[in-house]
Amino acid sequence: MRNRLAFRHWFRAFASLAFFALVLCLAFYITAFVYARTGWKPHAVLALLVNAFLGIILMVALVAIAGTVIHRRHRTKNPLSVITEALERIATGDFTTRLDENLRSHGVVGELVQSVNHMATRLDEMEKLRQEFVSNVSHEIQSPLTSIRGFAAALQRDNVSLEDRLHYLEIIEAESLRLSRLSENLLKLASLDSEQTRLAPTTYRLDVQLRNLILACETQWTAKDIEMEVALDEAAISADEDLLSQVWINLIHNSIKFTPPGGTIHVGLHRKGDRWEVSVADTGIGIAEEDLPRIFERFYKADPSRRHSAGGNGLGLAIAQRVVEIHSGAIAVRSQPGAGAEFTVSLPAV
Ligand SMILES: Nc1ncnc2c1ncn2[C@@H]1O[C@H](COP(=O)(O)OP(=O)(O)OP(=O)(O)O)[C@@H](O)[C@H]1O
Ligand SMILES: [Mg+2]
Repeated sequence: MRNRLAFRHWFRAFASLAFFALVLCLAFYITAFVYARTGWKPHAVLALLVNAFLGIILMVALVAIAGTVIHRRHRTKNPLSVITEALERIATGDFTTRLDENLRSHGVVGELVQSVNHMATRLDEMEKLRQEFVSNVSHEIQSPLTSIRGFAAALQRDNVSLEDRLHYLEIIEAESLRLSRLSENLLKLASLDSEQTRLAPTTYRLDVQLRNLILACETQWTAKDIEMEVALDEAAISADEDLLSQVWINLIHNSIKFTPPGGTIHVGLHRKGDRWEVSVADTGIGIAEEDLPRIFERFYKADPSRRHSAGGNGLGLAIAQRVVEIHSGAIAVRSQPGAGAEFTVSLPAV
């Protein structure tokens, strides 16, 4: 071992000397070339000094260049510095950053690379969702504001009849209500999303809650001449009563909204194994197959003409789904265009 170290030491010294001699030779050839070209013949001592000086400069320059190249290669090859740089880029908001998959071959570092790439992908997805959310909220605020502004301007004209005036005022009131419902629903969703959503579960009669809510909407379904069929088994449930009432209100309001006059709505509550199942079925316009997987998304409205969903923000089902989820339940939909829709909520029985 010692011999080996000594050998290395001598080898390095010899290599350095050889390198210096080589550089001096190079300097000698360069100066000889310059003298031959210019025809200048300096004194031998001066020529020696110039050679030595040029040799030293050349050597310093070559060592500096080699040092920089080795340092760079070393930096790019060190996986930890590559990961650190990537994390710094992610921290500044560049979520498109991904680490080279080849780094995976470095064992434990491979796991770190995978985690960093996974984190960047998730952050990227969340950023896209955030941007989409902001653009949806802006759109939902913008359209009622535009109509409020338009009808307020129309009201200022002199030649508007009393009947039109009342109609414009009704629209302004409805659009203001829509704005205020939007802000209420956004706050509700934000609170349901937050980790600290505190459930206040009590044991209460689900059938009584449903019956009361159906009665509370009576003016709305009778105004559309809708027949309301109710088949509720007696059911005690342990849940947050206020939050669940929001689910039933959203489902019943949708059924009334999307069912033409003269239709029927059926609300049922039955036991299915260890769960209670609530169904709200209507004979309304139904939902197209391609819209079904998306109707629980925030701001999604299936009705392209927006005629039926006017006044809605596409948040009702998203809120219902979130509330059901935090009660360890499930919500599902079955529908065919023109043949009505049936929403089913199942909740654990106590
Ligand atoms: N019973 C139903 N019949 C037909 N389509 C429905 C029914 N319920 C929901 N939908 C469709 O699903 C979409 C999303 O419903 P959701 O309740 O989330 O929003 P909304 O009713 O339009 O607005 P909001 O509930 O915020 O007032 C609706 O716009 C509608 O296209
Ligand atoms: Mg709704």
